[in-house]
Amino acid sequence: MQISEPHSSNQPAYGSGDTSFQAAGGEDGIRRLVDAFYDQMEQLPQASKIRAMHPTQLNESRDKLARFLCGWLGGPKLYREKYGPIRIPAAHSHIDIGIEERDAWLLCMEKALQSQPYADGFKSYLMEQLFVPAERCRNRD
Ligand code: HEM
Repeated sequence: MQISEPHSSNQPAYGSGDTSFQAAGGEDGIRRLVDAFYDQMEQLPQASKIRAMHPTQLNESRDKLARFLCGWLGGPKLYREKYGPIRIPAAHSHIDIGIEERDAWLLCMEKALQSQPYADGFKSYLMEQLFVPAERCRNRD
């Protein structure tokens, strides 16, 4: 799939409407990204601690994160449709998250993004944007 850089042409910038959802390849692309993300979490030694916080079977975690990201990126609100309303910081308040855990989560995402056919500008945009909710999940340090 050819994905163009919104800033290099007259297309709307990421973050407006469903531009980011489309740049991520829609629901299918986001599910591929989330699969790659959890594959990284299973493999990276730096992520073993946060992997252990998750259930043994990651099917539902994959489904939840993919559905959440669809809406968060301006696409359909698929998380709410299936699981109801969510606030990301509150959903993590019972989980012990410090700088190390936050950075391990972001590292999994960074590695997952590297394997996706996205424009480089979109990858760096997503990492910057995801830092915000990741930091809001932090309840220690
Ligand atoms: C900052 C580091 C983070 C850590 C260590 C972390 C860890 C976790 C854990 C252990 C769960 C529970 C998994 C389960 O029971 O299935 C979870 C759930 C979830 N996380 Fe995170 N998370 C982090 C950041 C984020 C961010 C930044 C997002 C969104 C952009 C996110 C989205 C979700 C969603 C949608 C769920 C499912 C919530 C539910 O339905 O209960 N997480 N996370």
